[in-house]
Amino acid sequence: MNTTLPLPRSVEWNDTHITLLDQQALPLAVEYLELKTLEDVWKAIKTLKVRGAPAIGITAAFGLALAAQQYENESIEEFRKQLQKYRDYLASSRPTAVNLFWALDRMVASIKDVISVNEAKTTLVHEAIRIQVEDEEVCYSIGHHALSLLNKNDSIMTICNAGSIATAYYGTALAPFHLSVEKGIPLKVYACETRPVLQGSRLTAWELQQSGVDVTLITDNMAAHTIKTKKINAIIVGADRIAANGDTANKIGTYGLALLAKSFGIPFYVAAPLSTFDPTIASGDDIPIEERAAEEITHLNGKRIAPEGISVYNPAFDVTPNELITAIITEKGIITGNYKQEIQRLFAHQSSSK
Ligand code: MRU
Repeated sequence: MNTTLPLPRSVEWNDTHITLLDQQALPLAVEYLELKTLEDVWKAIKTLKVRGAPAIGITAAFGLALAAQQYENESIEEFRKQLQKYRDYLASSRPTAVNLFWALDRMVASIKDVISVNEAKTTLVHEAIRIQVEDEEVCYSIGHHALSLLNKNDSIMTICNAGSIATAYYGTALAPFHLSVEKGIPLKVYACETRPVLQGSRLTAWELQQSGVDVTLITDNMAAHTIKTKKINAIIVGADRIAANGDTANKIGTYGLALLAKSFGIPFYVAAPLSTFDPTIASGDDIPIEERAAEEITHLNGKRIAPEGISVYNPAFDVTPNELITAIITEKGIITGNYKQEIQRLFAHQSSSK
């Protein structure tokens, strides 16, 4: 796809390795890592060198393709068993974003009819590339749908980074802002810094600045005051997993923003591809919420900022109940309310158009 966005790609396939934008080095440096083994891929996902639901899925898909190239046995049956082990290993890296499991399972399914190890190796590379290319198209489409909900000169709030670097390209919640620059539509974005790992200040502020979006950084506890004083028109966020009833898991702090949106009477939008939906889960209560290391809260830049021995609770995500969501913006269009039926319809339509 042709783009004029001045943004690096988060993941690239290079036959013998995966080139990964190191999202921990941003915004101070644009650095790349070479992932050469399955363990490198697992570690990169676990330690947030790559993060964001679609980017995690794409990286894991390339991880399986990479491990497959290094496999030496000739038996296709043995290969399938080994691939399942690789799949389970990468699936253990992070629990909440369903794109990880969606991409891994799609990779495993892609070789169900192949008859030789060589054919399987090639098929897996092609499938991973297809997942990446499709995600870019999907994000572009989400961006256009999202932009149709916004007006010239609107002020919009977002949290975390649901941007280009969290996907194949363009992003989900940030895609309309990138596209607004290309179309000359002025918008103002308020980015929450997103404690504890600061994906808002390190990544979203940087990414939007790169593409020339008018972005202002705030700390998370400034959200209510900012909505009031800066007359925020809407809040738009990404998603890590959307249950069959529309309940949505996203970065910790999202639920609070949805409650604020209701209180201020402004729309609360979730932008996400169909690969982020989990129709096997009835409601948000069934979404596993990742809890991360205490050091993410007790330390800042390696320096302790809390007393030794303090108890810490560090959930990385929260669940926004469907009734607080004004609309879910997908590549197939925008759904507003009646989420259970609308999501069923989206998936029925998707399987009939395959
Ligand atoms: O912990 P992270 O940085 O992987 O969390 C990312 C988010 O919560 C994003 O909003 C979500 O994955 C959507 S990315 C298009």
